[in-house]
Amino acid sequence: MKSAIYPGSFDPVTYGHLDVIRRSANIFDELTVSVLNNVGKSALFSVEERVKMLEEATKDLSNVKVDSFSGLLINYAKQKNVHVVIRGLRAITDFEYELQIAQTNHKLSGGELDTMFLTTSLEYAYLSSSSVKEIAYFEGDVTPCVPDFVAKELYRKYHGT
Ligand code: PNS
Repeated sequence: MKSAIYPGSFDPVTYGHLDVIRRSANIFDELTVSVLNNVGKSALFSVEERVKMLEEATKDLSNVKVDSFSGLLINYAKQKNVHVVIRGLRAITDFEYELQIAQTNHKLSGGELDTMFLTTSLEYAYLSSSSVKEIAYFEGDVTPCVPDFVAKELYRKYHGT
C-alpha cells in the first residue's frame, strides 16, 4: 500500500491545500494530512481546531486521514512507516524554502524520506493562509479562498460573529 503524509500548518486550510489533498489522494492509497503542533509559532487556530476543520473539509475523501504531530517530520514519518511527504508549490518563490526542507529531511532520514511536489492548480496559486487571515481580519470576503464553514470560523475568531 502506497502512503504519504501531507504536513503543514493549515492555519486555516484553504482551497489551495484542498486541491493538493484531492490530487494526492488520487495518487496514493492512503494520505495522512498532518497539522504541525509548532510551539514556537503562534497560530490563530489551535491544533484541535485546525484538525477539526481539515476533517470536515476532507470528509468525502475515504482514503484521507487527519492527524497532528510535533517535533521533527522525519521522526513522525518513521513512526508512521511512511516514506513520502507531499508539499504543494505555488510559485518559484516557494521553491527555495521547500528544496531546503526536502533535502534536509532526505539527509536526516538517511535517504528514507522523499518529498513529492505537486504544483498548485493555477486558480489557487495566489492563495495563502496568511492572506486569507488578513482578508478576514479586515472584514473582506474570504469565501473564494476557503470553504464556507472555515470562513465562518475566521469571522468568529476575529469579529466574534
Ligand atoms: O504549512 P507550513 O508552515 O509551510 O509547513 C511547514 C512544515 C510543517 C512542513 C515544516 O515546518 C516541518 O515539517 N516542520 C517540522 C519540523 C521539522 O521536521 N523540521 C526539519 C525540516 S528543516
